[in-house]
Amino acid sequence: MRAPIDRVLVIVPTYNEKENLEVIAGRLVTSVPEAHLLVVDDSSPDGTGDIADRLAAGDPRVHVLHRSEKNGLGGAYIAGFAWAREHGYDVVVEMDADGSHQPEQLPRLLAALEHADLVLGSRWVPGGSVVNWPKSREILSRGGSAYARTLLRLPVQDATGGYRAYRREVLDSLPLSTVASQGYCFQIDLAWQSWKAGWKVVEVPITFVERERGESKMNRSIVLEAVWRVAWWGITSGRSRGVRPTPAR
Ligand code: GDD
Ligand code: MN
Repeated sequence: MRAPIDRVLVIVPTYNEKENLEVIAGRLVTSVPEAHLLVVDDSSPDGTGDIADRLAAGDPRVHVLHRSEKNGLGGAYIAGFAWAREHGYDVVVEMDADGSHQPEQLPRLLAALEHADLVLGSRWVPGGSVVNWPKSREILSRGGSAYARTLLRLPVQDATGGYRAYRREVLDSLPLSTVASQGYCFQIDLAWQSWKAGWKVVEVPITFVERERGESKMNRSIVLEAVWRVAWWGITSGRSRGVRPTPAR
């Protein structure tokens, strides 16, 4: 039997999200009032960190972690996970600040967690979709997941997605201090590590809505990091040679 879910922390990493943060925080509080929010801001030049501080001053459910420099989504989440652990949350959710991950769909992710250890919000399972993405971005995303499925044998349709919910036990079981992934391959990294450790990973369809304000931080070096790290993991783990993983649980 899985533990009941009492305390939920939603971690939102931010870099230059001043037009988005307050809107997403408001939607979260309306959709899942019992959840807490942790904003992890990497000293955004546009003042997003000040907005986060103002929101935290007005609502005890809102918390802020300020980091001195921008060093990627991975570093921001690792810091957020450590904070969640110190503060005793049962469930940790990852969510983007720009509205692509709709807080109104969070109850569905949390419900699925009753029979799973890690729930992935998925664009590429039946019922999932993306609104307003150029075809090039869809190809990149689908291709990235196919690449991870092939090289790592990771049986997941959307391995790079950033809307997901972890039970605390999953994060406790992973060697988080050794995670080196900085960009979006952080998502593949943790999905793979969780699955390899034998935790039950389930995909729930989501509607991903491309941001209307601000800019994506995706760039060529983020793509390249994912390409070489996944290849390296595949080679060093033997999965590309067809070795089947042994589920631990
Ligand atoms: N603190 C911090 N530091 N936050 C960051 C950084 C960083 O270096 N880089 C990005 N972020 C934050 C953004 O401010 C936003 O809240 C979230 O991370 C996602 O960044 P976007 O730039 O909006 O990502 P995207 O829309 O291009 O990418 C989406 O697709 C990727 C590939 O499928 C997201 O869903 C990613 O999570 C996903 O991996
Ligand atoms: Mn985005």
